[in-house]
Amino acid sequence: MKDTTFTRRAAILGAAALPAIRNAAAQARPRAVVISSANRNNGGVNCCAKAMEILKAGGDTLDAVIAGVNIVELDPRDSSVGYGGLPNEEGVVELDSSCMHGPSRRGGAVGALRNIKTPSKVARMVMEQTDHMMLVGEGALRFARAMGFKEEDLLTEESRLQWLTWKKSLRDGSGHNNWGPGIDAPPSEQRKAAVLREIKEMFPNASEELLAEAWENAIHPPHGTINCIALNEKGEMSAVTTTSGLAWKIPGRVGDSPIVGGGLWLDQDVGGAGSTGRGEENLRVCGAHTVVENMRHGMAPKDACLDALKRVSRNFNDDLKRLEPIDLNFYALRKDGECAGAALWNKASVNATRGAQFAVCRDGGESRQENSVFLYERK
Ligand code: GLY
Repeated sequence: MKDTTFTRRAAILGAAALPAIRNAAAQARPRAVVISSANRNNGGVNCCAKAMEILKAGGDTLDAVIAGVNIVELDPRDSSVGYGGLPNEEGVVELDSSCMHGPSRRGGAVGALRNIKTPSKVARMVMEQTDHMMLVGEGALRFARAMGFKEEDLLTEESRLQWLTWKKSLRDGSGHNNWGPGIDAPPSEQRKAAVLREIKEMFPNASEELLAEAWENAIHPPHGTINCIALNEKGEMSAVTTTSGLAWKIPGRVGDSPIVGGGLWLDQDVGGAGSTGRGEENLRVCGAHTVVENMRHGMAPKDACLDALKRVSRNFNDDLKRLEPIDLNFYALRKDGECAGAALWNKASVNATRGAQFAVCRDGGESRQENSVFLYERK
């Protein structure tokens, strides 16, 4: 005969323990978290807020991250991504993007894509509508046309100004430049003033701020980029990276952003990672994949990113002088919602007023920028 006294007592005890068990389960359940690179004009914050809105409405994590980065791709003020991105050496904007969808474990990418404002959407189409992983150049553009994307000129007046400033800043071995006034070109110490005077004549309405930025970008070609990673309450994850790549690049150059495993990697059993900055250095350490594998082996997101940055440093024998011009950032989101941004240097330049940051939005709370950890400090 069954001991009913015991089962009744067990049932009472079990019922009493239920709230505690539910609480523990709730704590163990992944929260919804979105992270991204910071980007100018609040681009990262707006990206994460949009992605979180979609997650909270029950949307798919890939829909969320792509809608988030679309804001930045379509914003001509961000000269490192999408429309208004700085062009290649011929003045043509070429865009790169990759995406990964955690639940289906699939990915897609495009490289050196011209005339389409939202390469992240084309990367997704490569994933969903082809048996391929990556399309580049003319083939990627033809594919985008076939998928109904509208072709547009991606070069804004601001990015044309910046491109011409770069062309005028160049000199051959004898100090000559075909894009300047010729053999009477001013000596190099006056080059900046002369170039900016010529540019101002061509663009009379250009602000001093834009001229200063154009000169800085001519001397130190930037990489930019936005990376965004999302985790929903079901533990599903997706990620995307999109960029106009290195300013003034040789046509056809692709960096790390469209390389699955380089500028982006995701395994929702572990987490996701992405990067911004000098893609060539990231590719030499297979950064995003390295970060995720580091987390798989137990490292916290910030340590996983710092380890990848140490590998970059190792490639330069830890020579800080050679590393000085390199700008590289990693972003990591673990499946339990723990996240980090990490930079090679504490800030982009000695004169930068703010340190390296990334954007994050947790559980529908405020989307904001938080400090990244860093490997080296600029003196
Ligand atoms: N990380 C962007 C690039 O190097 O193209």
